Amino acid sequence: MNIIKLNAIDSTNSYLKELAQKSTLENFTAVVANQQTLGRGQLGTTWEAEQGKSLTFSLLLNFNRFRIQDQFYLSMAVSLGLISALRPYLGMSLNIKWPNDILAEKDKLAGILIENVLKGTNIHHSIIGIGLNVNQLEFPTDIGNVTSLKKLTGTNFNLDELLFKVVDSIQKYVDYLEKEDFQSLKKIYLAQLYKINTPSMFEDANGLIFLGKICTVDENGRLVIELENEKTRKFNLKEIKFAS
Ligand code: BTN
Repeated sequence: MNIIKLNAIDSTNSYLKELAQKSTLENFTAVVANQQTLGRGQLGTTWEAEQGKSLTFSLLLNFNRFRIQDQFYLSMAVSLGLISALRPYLGMSLNIKWPNDILAEKDKLAGILIENVLKGTNIHHSIIGIGLNVNQLEFPTDIGNVTSLKKLTGTNFNLDELLFKVVDSIQKYVDYLEKEDFQSLKKIYLAQLYKINTPSMFEDANGLIFLGKICTVDENGRLVIELENEKTRKFNLKEIKFAS
């Protein structure tokens, strides 16, 4: 594993994306920053972490032949790698909130931002950005329910050690992609999906609140929800959220 450590940078994802464009980098090269000044989250949000307290890093994955249409399996592999690395430290259940937030009970512990660089119909390489709340205890009040490993366990974690464990675990799940064993990945992912088969309230893009239950994720990564009338509806990322 090749690690590039930076003190401060706008975003490790942006930095690694640019670097990977300019030079050929080893697979699983990680860029880790002590502080990000413009950390990016999903759907144009920002990701903030207290300097030196949490893990903010990006990982490069090079592919030989990985089809764009299979990209959600990469998201599954990364979530599963992350959750499996964290589970041994915690005496509670961890879940994946679709598409790829890691939750401890109802609180967000980690977020993932994947950016794919394409070549024809394939993904040439991916930048996997991970923000994991580790030793941070205070969070802004306006970012919803969040937690950290220290909040959950009362102990301080060594960031270097944790980074190594997380990357190692992601590597194990990326193996499923290399073997094209997508169905096994999906089975493990669904077993850990937050609120699967549990009646829940959702809000669609028009602000409509409805009752339904998550039954699966389709081959394009869309969330499949069974409605009260037993019909199903499929949603893309921007089209659905849990109603609070
Ligand atoms: C999310 O939950 O919205 C995804 C958050 C991803 C944050 C990480 S921190 C390291 C990497 N660099 C970024 O700019 N973003 C990701």
